[in-house]
This record gives sequence, structure tokens and C-alpha cells, in this order.
Amino acid sequence: MYEHDVIVVGAGGAGLRAAIAAHEEGADVAIVSKLHPVRSHTGAAEGGINAALREGDSWEDHAYDTMKGSDYLGDAPAVETLCKDSPKETIQLEHWGMAFSRDDDGRVSQRPFGGLSFPRTTYAGAETGHQLLHTMYEQLVKRGIKVYDEWHVTRLAVSDEDDPEDRTCHGIVAYDVQTGKIEGFRARNGVILATGGLGQVYDHTTNAVANTGDGVAMAYRAGAPIEDMEFIQFHPTTLPSTGVLITEGVRGEGGILYNKHGERFMFEYGYANNLGELASRDVVSRAELTEVNEGRGIEDEYVHLDMRHLGEERIVDRLENIIHLSEDFEGVNPLEAPMPVKPGQHYAMGGVETDENGETCITGLYAAGECACASVHGGNRLGGNALPELIVFGKRAGHHAAGKDMKDAEITTGKVGDYEPADVESPVQLGEAGLGGDAVADGGATADLSGDEVVQRALDDERETIEHLLEKEDGIQHAEIRERVQKSMTEHVNVFREEEALKDALRDIREARELYQDVYVADKSRTFNTDLLQTLETRNILDIAESITVGALARNEFRGAHWRKEYQERRDEEWLKHTMLSWNDGEPELWYKPVILEGENKTYEPKIRSY
Ligand code: FUM
Repeated sequence: MYEHDVIVVGAGGAGLRAAIAAHEEGADVAIVSKLHPVRSHTGAAEGGINAALREGDSWEDHAYDTMKGSDYLGDAPAVETLCKDSPKETIQLEHWGMAFSRDDDGRVSQRPFGGLSFPRTTYAGAETGHQLLHTMYEQLVKRGIKVYDEWHVTRLAVSDEDDPEDRTCHGIVAYDVQTGKIEGFRARNGVILATGGLGQVYDHTTNAVANTGDGVAMAYRAGAPIEDMEFIQFHPTTLPSTGVLITEGVRGEGGILYNKHGERFMFEYGYANNLGELASRDVVSRAELTEVNEGRGIEDEYVHLDMRHLGEERIVDRLENIIHLSEDFEGVNPLEAPMPVKPGQHYAMGGVETDENGETCITGLYAAGECACASVHGGNRLGGNALPELIVFGKRAGHHAAGKDMKDAEITTGKVGDYEPADVESPVQLGEAGLGGDAVADGGATADLSGDEVVQRALDDERETIEHLLEKEDGIQHAEIRERVQKSMTEHVNVFREEEALKDALRDIREARELYQDVYVADKSRTFNTDLLQTLETRNILDIAESITVGALARNEFRGAHWRKEYQERRDEEWLKHTMLSWNDGEPELWYKPVILEGENKTYEPKIRSY
């Protein structure tokens, strides 16, 4: 068994920042990641980092924009923490040598982004995430922080008291991709989940194939509540044939969206009369799909994004990467022709419930970055708010897990205080279809076991599961199950949602769960067995898909990215609350907790949200 003070799962922006922070506090910290750090999906982030750095801007304005963008479902203490800490953390990156784009006077450049009242998105061309990831990786290497890369974490080692709030996370179990060994890792102080996104639940996504929601699913099965899962962001400008992202920076620099009649529809049809193409993402994605649905799309599928008028010099200077992406993945040279674009899954606003210090309700279990929900994005994330979230909350989680004395969080986690039990009318049984159980150390009570024993128990269970998968000689392969779920989610749980379609998705997920009972791994080898890994990931995809759909079916209103045909209005009197799901004996249990709109100096009163 390996042993460290703090174990960080995942090596993208949040994971690296958490590890550096824990190391700063003197902890023996290690990262365990299924990818080498610089292959993490943070490297695909193009646009930038929102930070109130300049005269005329303020963290208060950033917080206001973020609360409005969230459609008043963000929690003010988390939003204000993000906006206050982002400038300092951005400057820290600059001091570590991150190659930001610069103005002629030498200051780091900032550009407008959707839903912002000030051009506060700091960037490095159209490859901000790549620069950020490499900058932090250098800091990791400099500090000699141990990385177990190509180790796929499959389970958390959590004790099994009845109430999740009484449980403790003692470590993890991971599969060494190079050798096929399954090992336990004991975390003396804490485990920080930083596993990123879940885009592979959909078949048209900007996310990498590795983004299978592993951290969210593992924490959920271990009893940590997951929050606001129905709020999925569909980015308005993805390439139709692959889902590859075309940064919002194109519109930030002045790129224009046209329908098939050459109309600038954001203004022409009144979708956003003030900000036009730079309205927030939920608004622009709905506008594009309305154009397509009303017959003004191109090839009944997409619209055009034109940046030719910006001129080659400016495009090459600020958006060079976009020329290559459009040419390589769509065969369109954007210096000569408009790019075809359509909405695609991009980001999950929800995730593992945490407070502002990254703590979940399970002692010793933390989450940061896209897999976490603090919640800073509420119903809709503003472009440029994901990268500051990584560095701000990654750092806070790292410090807290390493024992730094920090201000108590204002956000509470777990079923405490003012929560509301709830139910959802599902057409099928939800939850596990026979595999049995939770991921808390199975096989009997563990509350009295030592931390080492809890990890050992989880390890034994996981070895058994994996050996079973490898021994099984025939059945169904994961790819078929995964494809069914991805297609159903893309068809039924997309930008526009309606009750019957959501129920169809739940039926499809149920069928997929039943098929998963008969899943088998054709490749029996022990080295780089991607068949096995993807089979394990597919179970995560099933749990995540169900949680998104259950939350979407239950939320009878239209808020942020969650549009419902039957409910065309935001209903604040009933729905200023977070959707919570807890895994209870292998079944999701739905409940709600109130949103916190009270900030440090003001209350963010919900207003009509127009751009
Ligand atoms: O459009 C983009 O460059 C994406 C940025 C983001 O998701 O924050």
C-alpha cells in the first residue's frame, strides 16, 4: 500500500494547483492520474481567465456578472471568493512565467467574453489552458511532487457509517495502466478529487475521451451528495463534425454569427439586443438552435461564425490556433470562409457538493475544479470562469487538506439545516441494476476499522470486481452500452428539454444499466488494457447520465442552461434551490437545499436576465 498525507486525483489545472498548495503547507502530497499531467483536458481550454485586474473593473462587478450569468443559482460566498481571489492567482501564474498575450504597453491583454460587463478575460492567444497547464507542471517538477501517472483511480476508500456526514475517506484504489496491478493508496490527511469534466456522457462534446465524470461518480457512490447536475453547458461554437471547440474569444475579438440568409440573427431576431454574439452561452446556444429549427440554419444543422473582417494579422496574433483547428477538423480555412458552428456539450455546472474550502460532507474528501460544485456557476457558467475556478479552489482545497488554518466556510455540506426531501416521477426504477451496492467499503461494517483496514477492504473489493470482468468470457462490450447512452442523452437531454423526452432518456439509461450486468472485457491483457478501463468508465457514465436526467426532470422551471418546454419561466418562489442527489443503498435520493444570495456587502436580488 502506498501512503501520503494528501492524495490528489487528477492532474489538470485544479489537481496541479491543489498539489502545489498542499506542498506549500509542508504536506507529503502525491498526484494519482489516469493521464500524464500535460495530457489533461485543461490543455484544451482556449479562451481565458476572468480576473478583475484593471482600473475601472472590480471583483464586485465580476461577482455581479457571475451571479447574473448563473441565473441566480450561484452561492454568493463561493462566487465572491472566486472573484476576489482570481486577480492574485492570475498574477501568480504570470510570476511563474505563464506566457500571457500582451498589449503594446506590456500589460497582459484582456478581451471581452460573453456576459461580462468589462473586458476582463486574460488570455494566452487561443491556448490559455495549454499555457496554464505547462506553467503549473513546471512548478510541480520544481517541487519534486510525486506523480503516479497512468494510474486510473477506480474507487474511494470510505468508511460506511449510515450517514455520509459521519464517514471518513481514508484513501483510494487505483489500477496501474502499465502493469495491470491494482493497489491501495492511504491518504493520512485527505483525498482531493480533481478529475475534470463528464462530457463523454454526450456524443457531441468539446471534452476529451478521458472526461467520463469519474470523480463525481466515485464520490456519489461513496455517499457525497452531488449538486445541480441538470445544468449542462452547451457551448455555442463547436465544429459540427467533431465537437472541437472554437473559442468564444473569436466573438470576443469581434466574430459574427450569421444564419443561412446572411442575417446577424442575434440582433435581427432580438435574441440579445445589447450584447448580441456576446450574450451568455445559454442564450446564444438557444438562439442558434432556434434558427436551425425555424429553417434558417445551414444544412439544417449549423450556423456560420465569420471572423474574416478582423484581418489576417489580428487573427494570427490572437487566435492562430483557431485557423489550425478549423482547417484540420472541418476543412475550412477561416481566413477565407466562415466557420460552420453548432452548440455542443462543453461543461458541467454541477458536481460534487463542496464548500468554499473544497470540503465535502465526508471527512477527508475534497473536490475542486469542474468535478466540484461549490457553487460558482449555478445555472450557467460564464466563459472564462472555469480556469480561475481551477486555480482559486484548487489552491484552497490543497491548503485545507494539508491542514492550513483557514476561515470557516459559510456554505454547509451534507444533509444539514434547511434541506427539503423530494421525489421524482420516474418511469423506471432508478439506480443500480443488480451489481449491488455502494462504493463505501463493502462486505460489512467498517466504522470500527482503522484507515489502513478501510483501504485494504476497498482494495479487496475492487480486485474482485476487476478480476470478475477479466474472467468473464462473453457478453456485451462497453462500447455498445456507452454509445446508446451518449445518443440518448444528446437526443433527449440537450439544450431544449421536454418531459416525455427526459423520461425516454431514463428508460434508455435503465436499459443500458441492465445491459451492463452482462458487460465483459474482450482484451484479457494486463498492459494498457483500454478495453478494461473504458468498461470501468462506462459505469461512471451510467450514473452521471442518470443524475443529469433526474435533476432535469424534477426541475419544473426554465433557468440558465436548463430550458423546459412545459415551464417557460424562471420560478424563483419555488426554485431558488439546489438540486441534490445522494446515493442511498444503490439508488439516487433527491433533495433540495436553498441558494445563498447574501454576499459580503449585498444580497444579489434575482432580476430579469437579459443581454
Ligand atoms: O470558448 C472558450 O474559449 C471556452 C472558454 C471557457 O469555457 O471558459
